[in-house]
Amino acid sequence: MMYRRSFLQRLSALGLLPLTGVATGASDLSSVNVSEPRKWPSEDDPHYWRWIRKQFPMPADEAYFNTGTLGACPHPVLDAVVASMKELETTIARYDYRGEHPEYIAGYRMQVDLRKKAGGVLNATAQEIALVQNATMGINFVANGLQLKPGDEVLLTDQEHPGGQGAWDLRAKRQGIVVRKLAIPLPPPDPETMVKVFAEAIGPNTKVIAIPHITSRFGIRMPVREICALAREREVFTLIDGAQALGQLRVDVKEIGCDAYAASPHKWLLAPPGNGLLYVRAERGADIWATLASAHWDDYAPENGIFRLMQFGTANAALLVGLDAALDFHARIGSERIERRVIGLADALRAGLQKINGVKIFSPVHPALACAMVNYGIAGVKGAELQDALWQRKKIRVREQAGQAVRQSVHFYNSPEEIDGTLEVVRALAKK
Ligand SMILES: Cc1ncc(COP(=O)(O)O)c(C=O)c1O
Repeated sequence: MMYRRSFLQRLSALGLLPLTGVATGASDLSSVNVSEPRKWPSEDDPHYWRWIRKQFPMPADEAYFNTGTLGACPHPVLDAVVASMKELETTIARYDYRGEHPEYIAGYRMQVDLRKKAGGVLNATAQEIALVQNATMGINFVANGLQLKPGDEVLLTDQEHPGGQGAWDLRAKRQGIVVRKLAIPLPPPDPETMVKVFAEAIGPNTKVIAIPHITSRFGIRMPVREICALAREREVFTLIDGAQALGQLRVDVKEIGCDAYAASPHKWLLAPPGNGLLYVRAERGADIWATLASAHWDDYAPENGIFRLMQFGTANAALLVGLDAALDFHARIGSERIERRVIGLADALRAGLQKINGVKIFSPVHPALACAMVNYGIAGVKGAELQDALWQRKKIRVREQAGQAVRQSVHFYNSPEEIDGTLEVVRALAKK
């Protein structure tokens, strides 16, 4: 990544970062915070996760369980963003906008290195990745970019986040496509039942299936691989909304077999807010018209891939520096290790909750459908009351859901002690 290295060397020359702290990746970047140990602990260090937790600026006594809304950035990510912005503001007069100089605005360059690195976490090529600003934007680009005519049918679930359905609803109202939101049983009993819902719904007019990998409210992990296989047999385009999955689960788009996948790395991948990834399978890239058009809206050169879908004008390059650092941080731990950690902690939460009288888990408990987001409530206690009690008694931050529930998103920066603390508060409230 040539530009980044020279960019970081220049930061160092300006005294904005120590050179040894930034040139070789996220682990060294953490040395920007001089109070932190420079080296990562070994894989089997019993304090591994405690060390990881210390890489986050959040106060040690605050437990953050709302990654489903926005992830917390670790120091290496935050420091890279701040240093990049400082670099721009310090040196802005020196850019002649002619010669070769580091990227100082985003939105115009091909960003092949970063697209390649981002593709790595999804098992995609650089050409199959567009850097966008969030999952909503990626979903909109696919929904607006596909050639559809009035009467063509799109299948969604009835559990979409507004960002997963708005673009389709808009096309339905404006252009007469048909959007059907299939009812998902709550909680779903098993993956087969969910696949059956889609198998029975696909008809001759079905052109697209657009569904979440993990649903927003109840944290249902959808059987996306099976549903995509079904769709492929019927030549139906598949778009997976991975806003809640990337960074939480190991995601392999080739294994899933989808045509497109949209993600929000500012959630579970812990990138700074305003980062999105859109994957479109190489063979389908040319099927998506650009929605936002600038210089390269009509660029179908195979070597540029879906750069056509990155034409949104000036954006903040520092956020991409942060995305780069977040990808390094994630890779340093490893997707599989992260998945094991977060599911293990969430399983402990589920097991504890199941033992408390009056508590109901609204999320799935079936291991194939459960993930690290747990939606639960206590009979007779409002979600807002439970959210406030967790914060006031233990500084545990969850998110209230409509009615009698909260959603607790468990990430690797959470600890078994924080799960125990949660259960203690829930037990006390359930007794009242
Ligand atoms: C399943 C799902 N899709 C899409 C979104 C929208 O994400 P963003 O605002 O990052 O585009 C969310 C946000 O919570 C979500 O949970």
